[in-house]
Amino acid sequence: MTTPTHTTEAIEALFNEARKFPPPPEFAKHANAQPGIYEEAERDYERFWASWADKLEWMKPYETVLEWNEPFAKWFTGGTLNASVNALDRHVRAGRGTKIAFYYEGEPGDRWTITYSQLLDDVCRFANGLRKLGVKKGDRVAIYMPMIPELPVAMLACARVGAAHSVIFGGFSPDSIVDRVNDSHCVALITADQGWRRGNKVPLKANCDKAMESTPSVRHCIVAKRVGDAVEMQDGRDLWWSDVVAEQPATCEPEPMDAEDLLYLLYTSGTTAKPKGIKHTTAGYLVGVTATHNLVFDLKENDVYWCAADIGWVTGHSYIVYGPLCNGATSVIYEGTPDFPDKDRLWSIVERYKVSILYTAPTAIRTFMKWGAEYPKQHDMSSLRVLGSVGEPINPEAWMWYHEHIGGGRCPVVDTWWQTETGAIMIAPLPGITTLKPGSATKPFPAIQADIVNEQGESVPLGGGGYIVLKRPWPSMLRGIWGDDDRYVHTYWSRFQHMYLAGDGCKRDLEGDYWFMGRIDDVMNVSGHRISTTEVESALVDHPAVAEAAVVGRLDDVTGQAICAFVSIRSGFEGSKELGDELRRHVGEKLGKFTQPKYLTFTQELPKTRSGKIMRRLLRDIAEGRMLGDTTTLADSSIVAELQERAKAAAAAGKDE
Ligand code: PRX
Repeated sequence: MTTPTHTTEAIEALFNEARKFPPPPEFAKHANAQPGIYEEAERDYERFWASWADKLEWMKPYETVLEWNEPFAKWFTGGTLNASVNALDRHVRAGRGTKIAFYYEGEPGDRWTITYSQLLDDVCRFANGLRKLGVKKGDRVAIYMPMIPELPVAMLACARVGAAHSVIFGGFSPDSIVDRVNDSHCVALITADQGWRRGNKVPLKANCDKAMESTPSVRHCIVAKRVGDAVEMQDGRDLWWSDVVAEQPATCEPEPMDAEDLLYLLYTSGTTAKPKGIKHTTAGYLVGVTATHNLVFDLKENDVYWCAADIGWVTGHSYIVYGPLCNGATSVIYEGTPDFPDKDRLWSIVERYKVSILYTAPTAIRTFMKWGAEYPKQHDMSSLRVLGSVGEPINPEAWMWYHEHIGGGRCPVVDTWWQTETGAIMIAPLPGITTLKPGSATKPFPAIQADIVNEQGESVPLGGGGYIVLKRPWPSMLRGIWGDDDRYVHTYWSRFQHMYLAGDGCKRDLEGDYWFMGRIDDVMNVSGHRISTTEVESALVDHPAVAEAAVVGRLDDVTGQAICAFVSIRSGFEGSKELGDELRRHVGEKLGKFTQPKYLTFTQELPKTRSGKIMRRLLRDIAEGRMLGDTTTLADSSIVAELQERAKAAAAAGKDE
């Protein structure tokens, strides 16, 4: 297979990993998933998923579990339901109205609790407000908000009236908002005045104002007050959240949605510059997130669950909003960064709310390792019982540190592999059954059929590596890309027949456990965020000084990969530190700050093959300071030596953004 060379070392290291952690017997005894579950799901996988669909509340029961017209799936057809009813009403009706849905903690230290009945009231009021503004079933609504309770309320209110939400991560720039809003013609944009981040104010409404100069479909912009500074409000277009909900009743008739009606769009990076609007529909998605959230985290009625991700990414959609709420869980939402005001912020939150399940990303864990074990040590974290990891491969060292210093050596660590496209966890341990191995996501979830295949699409025997594929449909799978069925088929279903190609490299050990090795396409994974190399290249080339740009990922101790740009500049410009900073700023403005290259190297020319193709593999080698392989196909080999020197200097000067 064409495993990117930059993952080789990680694979070797993983394969020396021999430590095993069988489930603690007491944990196993009470676990939600009991032995036999895999076999049962294999016997009849449709039946397995149907048993979870039967736990949802339907307005009209479904008739058929699965209609599979490869690669287009329809699950639970004939049924109607509403996602917000499943997240809220049915718990309230069952007498759990006073149960806490969210413990909310703002970055400045403000705290409050929201029960299931309060959340339902808030959602109904806002949904009524949306309806009054003319938002209706079949519309799309963009949401660009900080991590405040209004964010899940806005999502669920959209679901209640049958409009699909399209959440845009609050770190994105106005240009990125424009692309996403225009792609699906959103009729409204919901935001906040500003957000808090590491003590600074993030100008969300101002970014929306800039974006709305170029988004003709947006009729209304609804603004929640978070920080309180004055912001521009355009008459007739902009409305305060408080005015939208004022005098609205706390009940709201939910829209009956077809099982296959669109619940949301979420844009994700692929190998081209244009982000893909991933489509998730109602019933199958809820089934997938409910089952996985229950079984992978072993959720119990009294757990306090905390997924420390941002709702702007799929992890937050599935495992802060829909999964936990459909399961009636009590969750924590924290607005800010883990080092504000000090590096023990997360641990103080674990202690305060007695968090029992914590779900975070390897990049965060590696950062905590760097800060040192003294921070978690300051707090009583004995409430924790399950730890989760998501977003990128977790190296065994980080796994062990998490297990020992956060989990006190007693909590199973579930490494969960999945994607925006899969909607829910695909490969992960079931903590009461699975023997854990540090660095491995272990086994496919029940009813998921995964495999590792070679270039020819043939299954690779145990012990080998290749492409991870999924061989049968699953309820929470993407239903396509907004407005582009061809791209859906081409991206995921054309490389190998009858298999979904995820785009990750993976090895399977002799016991059938999966070890993920990173992307095999031109997508970087920086702090668990998927960023397309092409997208950053386009943003660079957009600057008048830049002739050509090539972007590659470079291994990074903390963020997994760091963005590394090679830039050739037009005559009349000079490659200086100032220009480098300006280009970083430019990328930040085009795409969002988190996509700014950490390393930037100027060059006269980029290394190209004789046919004119940029040699990315070579650039990756240069970026990571490796010995170079064969460069005989290179058009001008003198470029390489020069680039190596420059890249070394850039790495030495590299700074954490
Ligand atoms: O490369 C894999 C990596 O993240 C990609 C999916 O990114 P996104 O759609 O943004 O969703 C992130 C949250 C699910 C995958 O293709 N990835 C995610 N989880 C893991 C992982 N790589 C290794 N191990 C994981 N547990």
